[in-house]
Amino acid sequence: MDIFEKCYQFSTVKEAKETGIYPYFIPLDENEGTEVIHQGRHIIMCGSNNYLGLTTHPKIRQAAVDATQRYGTSCTGSRFLNGNMTLHERLEEELADWVGKEAALVFSTGMQVNLGTISAIVGRGDIVILDKDDHASIVDGAFLSGGKIERYRHNDIDHLKRVLASLPEDKSKLLVVDGLFSMEGDIAPLPEMVPLCKEYGVRLMVDDAHAMGVLGGGRGTAAHFGMTEDVDLIMSTFSKSFASLGGFIAGEKDVIEYIQHTARSLIFSASIPPANAATALASLEVMKEEPERIVRVNQIAERMRKEYHKLGFNTGHSVTPVIPIIIGDNNLTFLTWKLLFENGVFVNPVISPAVAPGRQLLRTSYMATHTEEQMDRVLGIFEEVGKQLGLI
Ligand SMILES: Cc1ncc(COP(=O)(O)O)c(C=O)c1O
Repeated sequence: MDIFEKCYQFSTVKEAKETGIYPYFIPLDENEGTEVIHQGRHIIMCGSNNYLGLTTHPKIRQAAVDATQRYGTSCTGSRFLNGNMTLHERLEEELADWVGKEAALVFSTGMQVNLGTISAIVGRGDIVILDKDDHASIVDGAFLSGGKIERYRHNDIDHLKRVLASLPEDKSKLLVVDGLFSMEGDIAPLPEMVPLCKEYGVRLMVDDAHAMGVLGGGRGTAAHFGMTEDVDLIMSTFSKSFASLGGFIAGEKDVIEYIQHTARSLIFSASIPPANAATALASLEVMKEEPERIVRVNQIAERMRKEYHKLGFNTGHSVTPVIPIIIGDNNLTFLTWKLLFENGVFVNPVISPAVAPGRQLLRTSYMATHTEEQMDRVLGIFEEVGKQLGLI
């Protein structure tokens, strides 16, 4: 059979487009942060990861322009060979200092950090332990490693303990967990996980893609719990609060040096362009200079969670600026998304199998730059649509 046959038979997307309910790959004409323009209409963005609203910050924009003017548009190669710059290394020093680790290593995306780090650290014969809700990039890194994968139920400490107790003592083990879970907005209970990792001799890596810039004064989940020393590896991405593209892993110097020379997604991929590195550096400076943004995004989230509850929506276990609105059915999730979008609110529908059946949701997320007026409008539209569809 032709290997393309599955592509010719792939009708789900065509059917969804025909019925007018296709919520993915929406091409935006303009994106000014809290508002975007789609086919001439202004839409309030409640679905981005631009938590601190830095993508349009004048100082950060200028840093990207200046870096392009000074260094050109690309490094045209891997950091391993010709694509490494003092700019990348300065960024690494600043990041290591920010998260409280000895060293950091910059990759070209967060996905590549997880693929490269996990497959470098975990080998055949080792064990990698994952939360069932871990991000796809962690799961793929674990598969790529060739190690044995063990999973525990989401944030279920009793289950984690049972899983750890069942593992052979003589095997080397790494536990990888999202700090702030990207779909439901809840946090990994590190104070309960760390003692277990210590008891069972497991190294701990936290994916702070969503927590960096948001929790722990912007320094992430370990800092949030005052446990920086207890977390062995901290990763994050530049594609969210850092308003750029790229990612990093931070930890002990020796471990970072090992990853630097063994992670294939680092060695066999070009480095981030100067503008991306300069943007991440400038974002870090702004996080230090304007800590009120970190406070603000959490305040906005607090308000929105309270108001959604008052209206009668189910926001699951969220305690962060990622607030799911649990709908619990694929079709109803799409329909709610469509009405919200038509009325001027951008959110992300997440359906089964990406989430368990019954947990289908609209992922909403907030920015330090959202105004109270915008939030009032969003809540008004949610109330109208919720009532129209009998959700509240
Ligand atoms: C938890 C988590 N880890 C890693 C990544 C990958 O980051 P990047 O967008 O830089 O590839 C993401 C982004 O979607 C994420 O949400």
